[in-house]
Amino acid sequence: MSDKKVIFSGVQPSGDITIGNYLGAIKNWVNLQDEYKCYYCIVDLHAITVPQVPKDLRRKSLELLAQYIAAGLDPEKNTMFIQSHVSAHAELSWVLNTITYMGQLNRMTQFKEKSQKNEANLNAGLFTYPVLMASDILLYKTDFVPVGEDQKQHLELARDLAERFNNKYSPTFTVPEPLISKVGARIMDLQEPTSKMSKSGEDDKGRILVLEDPDSIRRKIKRAVTDSLGVVKYSDDQPGIKNLLNIYSKFTGETIEEIEKKYEGEGYGKFKSDTAEVIVEGLRPIREKFDELMKNKDYLEEIYLDGAKRAEREARKMLSKVYRKVGFVKRKF
Ligand code: AMP
Ligand code: TRP
Repeated sequence: MSDKKVIFSGVQPSGDITIGNYLGAIKNWVNLQDEYKCYYCIVDLHAITVPQVPKDLRRKSLELLAQYIAAGLDPEKNTMFIQSHVSAHAELSWVLNTITYMGQLNRMTQFKEKSQKNEANLNAGLFTYPVLMASDILLYKTDFVPVGEDQKQHLELARDLAERFNNKYSPTFTVPEPLISKVGARIMDLQEPTSKMSKSGEDDKGRILVLEDPDSIRRKIKRAVTDSLGVVKYSDDQPGIKNLLNIYSKFTGETIEEIEKKYEGEGYGKFKSDTAEVIVEGLRPIREKFDELMKNKDYLEEIYLDGAKRAEREARKMLSKVYRKVGFVKRKF
């Protein structure tokens, strides 16, 4: 038995991942893999809460796995798997639905935002999405969940459900803690630096993809919205520059103060072109490794199958325990 603490996180295969996903989540996961027992999931059940094209969803799921590995996650050290391969996620979700209050789900800001965008297709899955996320986390006795800032409220719900279940029955679930890094937890849209960079919105000038080609990155950074103050300073009055500073710092590891100092007395032109190069160079190895991995689908298949087997063992144990506690007749086959 390993006494390592457990980490669980996931990304939806609902689009091509952005540097927001990379800097806010995946890059941090890489630093955790030696010290923790880590599960990194491709959450396809979550992805279908908004419309998807089936053949694209299949391809994107595989591409996301390749990007996890290309970003530095070692398949030997981490359990990487596809959510729909481990049916316990959907099953636990049903049980947790029965102890979740409608009012709690009504307060979720992501639901409010997404439901405004999908008014014509307001499905129940979008509403209960955070309960499925809680199931993902609670199945594995997760101690920490490394995510971007936008997931904090969902994490609170997972904690709340764990405690409610434990109190109602008896101690069963570990109550998970969020792990949100200081820098990079909220990468903003380049055109609208007061909203988060997202892989779905219509305007693609505001986001940079992990697999984006260098010239396009340079163009987007050049056109990124800034202000007329003309000083490279980390300030809420300069959301565009603040965002670029965060991106620069997260890629290079230099502190914000160091970067501000470096560009003292410089205009935005030089700072922007350097930021573009920092991004291009930071993503280059990922893109190269990704291209190589996509040529070897058998290898990718081996990884997600092995991951699902390992995850399944843990998840089944927890689900059986839950079924026993709520009073279901033991299944002897
Ligand atoms: P999603 O794209 O919603 O599946 O998000 C996957 C992970 O990326 C989650 O941990 C998010 O919190 C994180 N994430 C998504 N967008 C951003 C962003 N703009 N800045 C920082 N983290 C983000
Ligand atoms: N809801 C998360 C997001 O949109 C993705 C997710 C699903 C997740 N299940 C999870 C993240 C479990 C952490 C842990 O970003």
